Amino acid sequence: VARARHPGPLMEIVRYEREHLAALLALAEDADLAASLVADPERANRALSAPGTVALVAVDDGQVLGFAYAITDGAFQAYLVLLIVAPAVRRRGVGRELVERSLAGSGAIRMDLLASEDAKPFYRALTDRGPWPGYRLHPPQ
Ligand SMILES: CC(C)(COP(=O)(O)OP(=O)(O)OC[C@H]1O[C@@H](n2cnc3c(N)ncnc32)[C@H](O)[C@@H]1OP(=O)(O)O)[C@@H](O)C(=O)NCCC(=O)NCCS
Repeated sequence: VARARHPGPLMEIVRYEREHLAALLALAEDADLAASLVADPERANRALSAPGTVALVAVDDGQVLGFAYAITDGAFQAYLVLLIVAPAVRRRGVGRELVERSLAGSGAIRMDLLASEDAKPFYRALTDRGPWPGYRLHPPQ
């Protein structure tokens, strides 16, 4: 990612820490995404810190710009659970960098995900393979 497109020269990608939680949940809430994560912060912290979770945060001078959260078997398959970039810094390569670093950090050879309608152009830009149809299953009510 070209540095000039970064929202600030100090942007770095760091591993999720408990201190990031409030900012991450605020981003999720603003994006109207991940209601289950927002509903229970302690459960969210457990998920983001669990073994097999790769949770990365883009920060610039202490400010959270976005985050990605994936789970992985560490060998073949990772799954991207959630990715959100703050509206003010979109289209500057933050999302792409979070995805690339998540896959690299997962130890897996590929990463799958479910894309919202709005995010389809972003994911299409990141791969020339697919899309593959996806399904989300829930326990019976
Ligand atoms: C999807 C999202 C994470 C993308 O983050 P981002 O930092 O803006 O993405 P990038 O700047 O890395 O984009 C990389 C490429 O993807 C494509 N792209 C990204 N957003 C796009 C859009 N809205 N329309 C068309 N293409 C888009 C472009 O090709 C872009 O490269 P370019 O800017 O050089 O043209 C961000 O828009 C977001 O947080 N959306 C709301 C939450 C969401 O939908 N998350 C995903 C579902 S879990």
